[in-house]
Amino acid sequence: MIRQLVAGNWKMNGLGASLSELAALKAGLGANACDVLVCLPATLIARATASDGLLIGGQDCSAMDHGAYTGDVSAAMLKDAGASFVILGHSERRRHHGETDADVAAKAKAAWAANLTAVICVGETKAQHAQAAAIVQAQIRASVPSGAASANTVITYEPVWAVGSGKTPTVDEIAAMLGVIRESLISTLGQAGRDIRILYGGSVTPANAAQILGIANLGGVLVGGASLKASDFLGIIAAVKPV
Ligand code: PGA
Repeated sequence: MIRQLVAGNWKMNGLGASLSELAALKAGLGANACDVLVCLPATLIARATASDGLLIGGQDCSAMDHGAYTGDVSAAMLKDAGASFVILGHSERRRHHGETDADVAAKAKAAWAANLTAVICVGETKAQHAQAAAIVQAQIRASVPSGAASANTVITYEPVWAVGSGKTPTVDEIAAMLGVIRESLISTLGQAGRDIRILYGGSVTPANAAQILGIANLGGVLVGGASLKASDFLGIIAAVKPV
């Protein structure tokens, strides 16, 4: 059995006052049956301090290691601020910033060079739904560089139409896509592709978490809206079955 990862993505939400939610989360954690990660805005990472049972991550990084890239944040800067993970290739980055699979692959290598675990997101849009498997296979092939392994990479399947919409695929659809992604990982990475955790993301809530987290071989969930309130996020964490 895989130890599942419950990851939060605060997106562009959170000021200093929101650290009280993080404190409430830490206070509610106890001995969890899973790993718990919160990916914060870059401005809050250094103020958040990881602690036992709580991992901190960023939401994007530059592919460059330093230099004249105004406004960008390097993987080493995230690491230095206290992050150990970084989300890469989220559909909002792909859509609003035109990030390509090649960009995502370059960022993953930069993340690894700084000792960050890359959480690489893939998923089809609503218009691509009928070809979802082919779209996701192509994204895996092009955005997950060789060298990916369970120690440095997590994959998240996030159908774009499920993000922030309150809609989710059925459990069977998620399970089928999990199989597609696992096959793609094995065909591109060989043996290393067998152990990489594959998460689901898109409208995960305390109400549907147990059903989704119960999918065989699912590595965990990536949670946007419901990660902003400690009580909701703790409700999702509580839905993980002890292994
Ligand atoms: P959501 O976002 O849980 O609000 O749908 C998920 C994500 O974008 O990572």
